[in-house]
Amino acid sequence: MRRPQREALPDMPGRITIYEVGARDGLQNEKTLVPVEVKAEFIRRLVAAGLDTVETTSFVSPEWVPQLADSAALLGLLDEVGRGRNRPVLVPNERGLDEALAQGAQAIAVFGSATETFARKNLNRSLEESVAMFAPVVQRARDEGLWVRGYLSMCFGDPWEGDVPISQVVDAAFRIMDLGCDQLSLGDTIGTGTTGHVHRLLDALDARGLGTDRLGVHFHDTYGQALANTLAALAHGVTVVDSSAGGLGGCPYAMSATGNLATEDLVWALDGLGIETGVDLEALVQTSVWMAGNLGRPSPSRVVKALAG
Ligand code: HMG
Ligand code: MG
Repeated sequence: MRRPQREALPDMPGRITIYEVGARDGLQNEKTLVPVEVKAEFIRRLVAAGLDTVETTSFVSPEWVPQLADSAALLGLLDEVGRGRNRPVLVPNERGLDEALAQGAQAIAVFGSATETFARKNLNRSLEESVAMFAPVVQRARDEGLWVRGYLSMCFGDPWEGDVPISQVVDAAFRIMDLGCDQLSLGDTIGTGTTGHVHRLLDALDARGLGTDRLGVHFHDTYGQALANTLAALAHGVTVVDSSAGGLGGCPYAMSATGNLATEDLVWALDGLGIETGVDLEALVQTSVWMAGNLGRPSPSRVVKALAG
């Protein structure tokens, strides 16, 4: 079978937006440098497979993330579609924003943390300092008419601090959103979250006035929970889901983080539920097989394995 039998469930959205992070989150942890032309081709293929929103790269310190040191060259290789409003880039500070603007970026993402330790490990800043670093970035980006996403990492557990109280996550979410972001992506950076936890966090955010219309979810699959957690979030009303083609990825500054939810696994589940994504699964699988060839190892996605043979 090349696609699942369709059986819908009540109270699920009719259509969702997949926010594809394979080219950024997927590649940022790769030790061997991937040529910039391969990255550009990867992004073109993802778009051609029907992925509407594709995060392309990060304008961060090349010392911190050597794999993405070619971000300016990459945007230079992409056409208008490859640099548009649906092609966000990560930007931590004003230096990064200047470079992203110079390359014609029209959407950015700042990336905050729910915990003090990860803010220091990932940004070399305290929580307070990191929010202060983002403030002028978000302000200037908005003044320039850019779309701005905020990420919040360690929403479901932190490898150094352990459990992260939901109230702490909610406070951190508001600090990022109060800067003026259009959307917040809730990150399970190390993949330890489970379905009840997802519902409780979404309840707590909703109770404080941050509804699912401004939220996305970003699950890493370290413990095999990413798809279950995503379906829990959809049942709660979330309609923006982050995933990574072929399940590539991980954060270099988060101990034990593996790849994101594989986009193919997500598309298979959504197709079975009759939820529209606009993605051509066969084309996407071919793209992930091609990328796995470039990286020299097979994709961890179950659906890629099942359909590639
Ligand atoms: P720092 O070392 O404190 O930076 O790093 P600094 O401000 O002291 O500057 C040091 C040098 O870096 C200077 O160069 C700067 O110009 C340069 P020098 O003058 O010494 O020659 N520099 C830059 N160069 C290029 N682009 C820039 C830039 N900024 C400074 N933007 C900094 C602070 C924030 C820069 C650093 O910590 C950093 O780049 N961190 C990024 C780490 C990262 O990208 N992590 C992965 C993304 S987050 C993630 O994956 C989680 C997520 O997926 C969600 C989830 O799963 O939870 C989003
Ligand atoms: Mg991530």
